[in-house]
Amino acid sequence: MLDFYPLAGPILRLLNPETAHGLAVAALEMGLVPRPAPFNDAILNIRLWGRDFANPVGLAAGFDKDARVADAMLVQEFGFVEIGSVTPLPQTGNPRPRVFHLASDGAAINRLGFNSQGVDVVAKRLGKRTRFGIVGVNLGRNKDSAEAVEDFVRGAKMLARFADYLAVNVSSPNTPGLRALQGRDQLRQLLLAVQGVLADIAECDRPPLLLKIAPDLTSDDMDEIAEVSLETGVDGLIATNTTIERSPSLVGRRRKESGGLSGRPLFEPSTRVLGEMYRRIGHQIPLIGVGGIGDGRAAYTKIRAGASLVQLYTALIFHGPGLVNCIKRELAALLRADGFAKLSEAVGADQR
Ligand SMILES: Cc1cc2nc3c(=O)[nH]c(=O)nc-3n(C[C@H](O)[C@H](O)[C@H](O)COP(=O)(O)O)c2cc1C
Repeated sequence: MLDFYPLAGPILRLLNPETAHGLAVAALEMGLVPRPAPFNDAILNIRLWGRDFANPVGLAAGFDKDARVADAMLVQEFGFVEIGSVTPLPQTGNPRPRVFHLASDGAAINRLGFNSQGVDVVAKRLGKRTRFGIVGVNLGRNKDSAEAVEDFVRGAKMLARFADYLAVNVSSPNTPGLRALQGRDQLRQLLLAVQGVLADIAECDRPPLLLKIAPDLTSDDMDEIAEVSLETGVDGLIATNTTIERSPSLVGRRRKESGGLSGRPLFEPSTRVLGEMYRRIGHQIPLIGVGGIGDGRAAYTKIRAGASLVQLYTALIFHGPGLVNCIKRELAALLRADGFAKLSEAVGADQR
């Protein structure tokens, strides 16, 4: 099979990052990106929330904010795809330029600020899906809305029925006040309100509710999130979003840009938060590990730290979609080399 990325990748990287992303999404939408040879290995199967994941490698939120290419990305061999963040009303986000690549660091900085076509457009698109595959829906809030909780409620009402899971995103650094929703009382109020919406859906159609958290959390913050997660009965956590910290090791010219940093430098801090949350609640609530995954070893490290599933985005920018099957192959080999018969046995292995 022809791998087009060695040809297209260098051209895309010459363009402004957001233009390149738009072209990549358009190419996927038009079916111009070749389908890779399938790679399936039963050791990678995992069942969570009543759903069977053929493999644990997912596409993180932000790549397909408006649900234009969820099926096309499933065809690229992801085990699941998370669309969004979707805001209730359409909004354009922050002024451009607002995405920066730090190629020598394997990183990106973005301050997109939830550019979204809004829940109505996304609901229509998701309603037309025909293909089979697991799609999560990540909810955000409008910048100008006075009532954050109401925004998430509206998102859940409009999109829950199309979602294999719903993720409440309280961790993007580019919407003022959003991350304050991770505090105990606000978080409790928010989760109970969204669960109230889900309670009206018949149990067999009700998607699990996940919470996506930041990497920039203190130990007290994590205690509070753990406490509220258990108390409200959230179904899963996604750890983590991008960081506002800047590692001194960064060399990329745009390292001082404001926004959230993703990619390789995020691996260590996000894996630390993942492990910390696993120690607190991982035996009761499944975790998705995301942040800086660029190869099978990194995915395996997240799993051993406590992730039942993993996601990636930034490494795709630099390596293209062929990376997905590489990660799956390496992960399967690493599991076997350590004597695991199935993925679930390795989850949290480093914490025992
Ligand atoms: C350009 C860009 C846009 C993103 N947009 C969102 C978003 O809308 N909602 C969200 O929850 N996370 C968003 N993220 C964060 C990713 O989902 C992921 O948590 C983070 O990038 C760490 O994974 P990575 O290092 O593999 O990229 C975005 C990331 C990038 C690079």
